[in-house]
Amino acid sequence: MYAVEKLCFAPPLTFSREQLRELTTGESSFTSIAEDGGKLAGFAIAALMKERALRYGYLQTIDVAPEHRGRRIGSKLLRHVEENIAAAGGRVMLLHVAVQNREAIGLYEKHGYTRVGVEDGFYRRDNGDAFIYEKRLPSIP
Ligand SMILES: CC(C)(COP(=O)(O)OP(=O)(O)OC[C@H]1O[C@@H](n2cnc3c(N)ncnc32)[C@H](O)[C@@H]1OP(=O)(O)O)[C@@H](O)C(=O)NCCC(=O)NCCS
Repeated sequence: MYAVEKLCFAPPLTFSREQLRELTTGESSFTSIAEDGGKLAGFAIAALMKERALRYGYLQTIDVAPEHRGRRIGSKLLRHVEENIAAAGGRVMLLHVAVQNREAIGLYEKHGYTRVGVEDGFYRRDNGDAFIYEKRLPSIP
């Protein structure tokens, strides 16, 4: 996972091995992976958050290795994570995305996410501002 993460994000945005371990092993974490020929092609990590009565999913990251992009792997990972969060009672997905990340913004908007805000300086150093996107999830009994 860390090898794919390094291909997807430049420092300081790269999650460390330890951060990936924490994000994927938390009791409220949901991880989806995509493989190609036995090798990891991509993954998505979300957390189920609880605030009073509201449960929602927060997308920590979605990574597709460069040679596998443009083949709907990101779309499948996103759908899989959303299904898992909805099945666990999450009513909404929330995420941050760098304002200049055209590929990811295209992915989220294609999948029905709506821009609901901007957070200045969300990313450390000069990597800048983030849009906040959300999507309502179907309620699964
Ligand atoms: C964003 C990312 C996960 C997309 O993965 P992918 O497997 O290539 O995505 P898909 O093939 O499922 O594409 C789905 C949609 O995303 C958008 N998209 C994907 N690549 C794009 C590009 N180069 N330019 C513009 N939009 C793009 C399009 O809307 C596309 O739908 P379309 O092909 O019908 O036009 C991938 O580019 C990636 O890993 N980027 C680096 C990591 C990253 O920035 N993650 C997001 C963190 S917030």
